[in-house]
Amino acid sequence: MKKVMLTGVRPSGNLTLGNYLGAIKNFVDKQKQCKSYIFIADLHAITSPKDPQKLKESVQNCIAMYLACGVDPNKTIVFKQSDVLEHGTMGFIMTFQTKFGELNRMTQFKCKSQVAGKQGVDTGLFVYPTLMVGDILLYNTNVVPVGKDQQQHVELTRDLAERFNKRYGNTFVLPDVYIAPVGNKILNLQNPLEKMNKSDSGDNKGTIFLMEDLNSARKKIMSAKTDSLNKVKFDEENQPGISNLISILAKITDEAIQSIEKRYEGKGYGEFKKEVADKVCELLNKIQTNFNKFNDPDILDGIVKDGAKKATKTAKQTLQKSMRVLGLC
Ligand code: TYM
Repeated sequence: MKKVMLTGVRPSGNLTLGNYLGAIKNFVDKQKQCKSYIFIADLHAITSPKDPQKLKESVQNCIAMYLACGVDPNKTIVFKQSDVLEHGTMGFIMTFQTKFGELNRMTQFKCKSQVAGKQGVDTGLFVYPTLMVGDILLYNTNVVPVGKDQQQHVELTRDLAERFNKRYGNTFVLPDVYIAPVGNKILNLQNPLEKMNKSDSGDNKGTIFLMEDLNSARKKIMSAKTDSLNKVKFDEENQPGISNLISILAKITDEAIQSIEKRYEGKGYGEFKKEVADKVCELLNKIQTNFNKFNDPDILDGIVKDGAKKATKTAKQTLQKSMRVLGLC
């Protein structure tokens, strides 16, 4: 029996190199070996208010981007979360299995609520991990490829599934998180102590978007913050900027980190950054060419409608099973 793999991306803004290297690439590499689901997490996008028209555009971009990055709709079920109504109910059920303290401890919530202040933070930000728990459990998922920042949420999924199974009998499959050894946390190019995000505080100078103009991407890499040691050495503590660039290069080319270090022994940062910029631009160029090929609203709509039909079948079964054991039906 093939393992079930599932992942999703929030369609808020443009996808970044971090999204691709941390999650989508790993999914694409494994999609043939698994029964694979990838979805557009549009319900997660409304945890804070969004412009409806922009959200629609972001969803469509996200579907086209999945295909451009190599997701094959003949091998993978591609769907939009809000098309499968079972996600809402399952998220609701899982919220009620969760302690307040568990959600309060989620690192993402802690960081974001520190900035906004707990009174000012949207409840959506607080409960979205349990929606994510529901997303994963609905499909009897075995493996969830995500970046490091989402690890805690997949671990919560496992804990809650285990708790539910103990209380009500064996209902859910316990998922494993898959965090790739390289590229699981791509850092902001200008502030390599922070993760690369879809938006950053410095005019996005530290973020590379998958649809970014190639000259702009090259400039961002060439002016990425490094240090004055001038050694191409993977040392996350003392050389976070250069280590980040090594991770980016290693993940794109599948070359071992040690081999990159060896090739650059005795050489300076300029030459190294140029290679990173070349490889990033090659990747973006390929993705952007594919994106323009696939970005046809009718075709994309057909793909997600078909995906939603298939996803709904499994989601319905799992939801009914959990409602039965709860005494709801
Ligand atoms: P999101 O949209 O923030 O990010 C999508 C995926 O990209 C990864 N990622 C990164 N990886 C490495 N370096 C980075 N700088 C970087 N930035 C983002 C994220 O870890 C993630 O894997 N809640 C999720 C979406 C979601 C989901 C799910 C994922 C909803 N339900 C069920 C898996 C399973 C989110 O907001 O991801």
